[in-house]
Amino acid sequence: MRFAVLTISDKGYAHQREDASGQEIIRLVQAAGYELAHYGILPDEQVHISAELRRLCDGRVAELVLTTGGTGFAKRDVTPEATLAVVERLCPGIPEAMRAMSMAVTDRAMLTRSVAGIRGDSLIINMPGSPKAVRECLEYILGPLKHGLEILVGQASECARH
Ligand code: MTE
Repeated sequence: MRFAVLTISDKGYAHQREDASGQEIIRLVQAAGYELAHYGILPDEQVHISAELRRLCDGRVAELVLTTGGTGFAKRDVTPEATLAVVERLCPGIPEAMRAMSMAVTDRAMLTRSVAGIRGDSLIINMPGSPKAVRECLEYILGPLKHGLEILVGQASECARH
């Protein structure tokens, strides 16, 4: 299974901030056995983000596309809107689960507007922008995510009973 990481950050794009959260995603997802297919940094520009998400999905670059950053309340936080513009089927359970788990860590978790959805054969998930939040969320979702992706790409057809 291949994954792509898109860091959405004006400061990261301008080389004014190190991309610690993107690097944290790469470390954790590679450790879970996925192959890194693409890594990039984009500014908080909705049209550019949507275009890159479309390219990654339609070009079959990766089955799992993880964004980090731009999910909060700042005027330039538009990652969820850029994602909603390209997904064909919403997967609300994933951000719901991340927020529910994260509320036990910080009540500011309610401030992330992250979304997830499927376009073609790829699943896009918005993660918050800090390495700490990325770590907390990924460690929680990577297990069930594997099963979902196997169903998406046709490697599994049904849910085994637990
Ligand atoms: N989720 C977890 N698990 N841990 C965190 O520390 N920080 C929150 C939230 N989600 C946080 C979290 C905070 S403070 C904000 S403002 C939002 O994510 C949005 O982050 P973003 O704008 O960097 O995407």
